Amino acid sequence: MMRRPWSALLLALAVASAPAWAETGPGEVEAGAKAFLPCSACHSVAPGGAALIGPNLNGVVGREVGSLPQFDYSPELKAVGGTWTPEQLDRFLTSPSDFAPGTRMGYVGVSDPAERRALIAYLSSLRAGSGATAAAPAVDFGPGWPAGPGQAETGELCNSCHSLAIVKQQRLSRETWDKLLTWMVEKQGMAAQSPERRALMLEYLVQNFGQP
Ligand code: HEC
Ligand code: HEC
Repeated sequence: MMRRPWSALLLALAVASAPAWAETGPGEVEAGAKAFLPCSACHSVAPGGAALIGPNLNGVVGREVGSLPQFDYSPELKAVGGTWTPEQLDRFLTSPSDFAPGTRMGYVGVSDPAERRALIAYLSSLRAGSGATAAAPAVDFGPGWPAGPGQAETGELCNSCHSLAIVKQQRLSRETWDKLLTWMVEKQGMAAQSPERRALMLEYLVQNFGQP
């Protein structure tokens, strides 16, 4: 598997560091985020992220099954009806093709119940950064996440997919941060930002997590 040179190191750091998620059990969301890696080949999770092979999953817990207007669902999945509760997700993720025979989700399923629980905790956490409601809770940036222009924008976006620890521990040049943002959009399903917003975030990252 091809990785950027900084990839292995950063992943190791991300696994070793304490989770920055405010609302769930210790390590559960982090474990779910890790378990989500194979899913991310087909699903983006950022607020308003593009449909890949599968639909965007931001806010999927509590959402009506098969309801994103911009995604072409199978009739079999749509026929399930109702909303995605944790229990429904647990059944679906155990074996998508048993849950909704004919579904287009070409994935065998997750047999380990603990892994499914972690995945569902992770999916539930994806609502916080969605900005869908005015009352959305503020992101807990945690210690070491400096204030300054671009703080909220950068933190909310990056935190919608993974712990901010993965961002905080970097010391990258401007050029590398720039490439990383592009890579996050092209390969990791991050929603593309307006040029102004992207420039603001790049500046924030360079100022606070740049090369010393
Ligand atoms: C749509 C989801 C998503 C968003 C939004 C997102 N990332 Fe990521 N990011 C990922 C995934 C998935 C990985 C793990 C990729 C891998 O290991 O191959 C990752 C990995 C990383 C890494 C580690 C690189 C590596 O190879 O392990 C850094 C640094 C990073 N992201 C920074 C950011 C920053 C900064 C932002 C916000 C501007 C951000 N990410 C937003 C999905 C996202
Ligand atoms: C090979 C691509 C692929 C992989 C891998 C994949 N999915 Fe999917 N997923 C899809 C497709 C396609 C659909 C739409 C299915 C349909 O319309 O029948 C879907 C639908 C879903 C839905 C329903 C969303 C909605 O809007 O109703 C959820 C939840 C979901 N996937 C979660 C996951 C999780 C969690 C994983 C990893 C364990 C995963 N998927 C892995 C392709 C994939």
